[in-house]
Amino acid sequence: MSGNNTFKLDGKNIAFEDGDTIMDAALRAGEYIPHLCHNPEFTPHGSCRVCVVNANGRQVSACTQPAMENMEVDNSSDEIVNDRRALLQMLFVEGNHVCPGCEKSGACQLQAVAYYTNMLSPHFTHFFPQRSVDASHADIAIDFNRCILCELCVRASRDVDHKNVFAIDGRGINSHLVINSVSGKLGDSNFAATDKAAHVCPVGAILPKHTAYDKPIGERLYDKKPISIVGDVAAHEQDEER
Ligand code: SF4
Ligand code: FES
Repeated sequence: MSGNNTFKLDGKNIAFEDGDTIMDAALRAGEYIPHLCHNPEFTPHGSCRVCVVNANGRQVSACTQPAMENMEVDNSSDEIVNDRRALLQMLFVEGNHVCPGCEKSGACQLQAVAYYTNMLSPHFTHFFPQRSVDASHADIAIDFNRCILCELCVRASRDVDHKNVFAIDGRGINSHLVINSVSGKLGDSNFAATDKAAHVCPVGAILPKHTAYDKPIGERLYDKKPISIVGDVAAHEQDEER
């Protein structure tokens, strides 16, 4: 194929290249499709389902669905946005996301996507799971209460850092992030603050120590412009846009 192929996203022509997913082509064209487990630097994972769109009458994950000529993609109908909002509400009640007290508030992708989709309440009953905080590492803390199981840290540690510090254990509602060290503590692993995996978390689960409130609320990444304009938090992490 020549690279001149197009599909329609909410009525707009989007060019795509061989091997592109709907997400790849949309982001390149400057069109935002909400997403959490997707990061263009990593192999698509397709787990959070926040990017679900309707393509030719079928609901598909935009981050894994290959783009096809003349495809009609709906990213903004009430049905798609309502489903997306319900997914976000489930993510909020499944963990313990206390936004007003979170160091990542204003620079959190989950919070920013929730604002973008006009999520005004959690709607569902909170699970209030019992989860821990691991502050054993000198430079990085992990708050498991905030983990949304996107596996970006797992992929980054495995594929870029070649350390396999993180893994997901358990199934379904019992799935949880684990640390590969003898004690299960981050401080006993070979994790380093310079690792790629320390800079990919879309929420406030993996946090650098010592800098939490350096940037005041009101001046954080998503405080002035929405995520559809600013883009992913991980793309700004290396600049310490927190
Ligand atoms: Fe994703 Fe962050 Fe949880 Fe890792 S710690 S799985 S990057 S939410
Ligand atoms: Fe596509 Fe998570 S961003 S499934």
